[in-house]
This record gives sequence, C-alpha cells and structure tokens, in this order.
Amino acid sequence: MPQNPIKSFRETPAAVSGFVGDARTDGELWVRELDLQHLDLRGVFVMLTERIERVPTIDDRSDSHSDLLEFVADASQLLEAHFAFEEAGGYLSDVLAIAPRLSDRAARLQRDHDHLAARFSKLATYARGMRATYQNWKRLGMAIGEFTQDLRLHESEENRLIQEAFLDDLGGG
Ligand SMILES: [Fe+2]
Ligand SMILES: [Fe+2]
Repeated sequence: MPQNPIKSFRETPAAVSGFVGDARTDGELWVRELDLQHLDLRGVFVMLTERIERVPTIDDRSDSHSDLLEFVADASQLLEAHFAFEEAGGYLSDVLAIAPRLSDRAARLQRDHDHLAARFSKLATYARGMRATYQNWKRLGMAIGEFTQDLRLHESEENRLIQEAFLDDLGGG
C-alpha cells in the first residue's frame, strides 16, 4: 500500500490503524483507504493553496520559499502515489468487476489521471524555476487553486462511481 509522503499529515497507514478495524473484507479496506487518501489529498492541496497565497507577505524570506517548494514536491508525490494506488491491478478493477456498466465513466476518469499528473508536474517545474517574486507566487497560487478545484471534481466523480457500484452490488445487479 503506498505510503503518504507527507508524513505529518497522516502518520499511520489505514490498513493498520484502528479506523479500519471493523472492515470485514479486502474490498472494504480498499475503499476505506481510498477515502482516507481522498481526504489527505484534499487537505494537502487546500493547505498548499492557502500557504502559497500567503507568500506575498513574506516575499523576502528565502527559507519560506524553499519550504514551499518542498511542499509542492511532496504534494506532487502524494498525487502520483494516489493515482498509482487506484490503478494498481487495473484502474478500479474491483469496482468494475461489480459494476461493468460503469466502465466508460471509469475510462474517462483514468484519462484524467494523466492530464492531472502532467498539469501538476508542469506547475511544480514552473515553481522550481521561477523567480520568487510577489507576482510569480500569486500566479502559481491561482493556478494551484484552479488545479485543486479540478482535482476535487475528479475525486467527487470517482466517489460517486464507487457508491453506484456498491448500490448495484447490494441490489444484486
Ligand atoms: Fe483518481
Ligand atoms: Fe482518487
């Protein structure tokens, strides 16, 4: 199971935490781990956006800039680890085994991964190479804010798809 690279955000992998102690099957553990990763991702990207938006007030402190660059790199790793978790063994393969009718929507969501990963990687590269000016941080903060919104849409659609699959399962379909 991929570890969260932002250690301070969630210390314990879900599979060994008390939070998932009452899960009965591997499928339930997987969904709960996915929920935790979605919560982590949302928290990390919202926090990242907020911290970058505060940067203009500390424009001349180079150590804060390097802290932020590290945060951007950690967020990038977290994103890639999350996508890898979802794609391990085939994207949402267990979910689609329950509800094959959702496979077109799943294929669209999987394509989002490539676009989102490439887009954030470009932002991270821009952040590393940019001059640390008020305008550049402001611009980066806005771009990461927009990215965070789009990531949230992707995750919401993913959660909806999984819920629909479970409803199918409960209904025997
Ligand atoms: Fe995803
Ligand atoms: Fe996801």
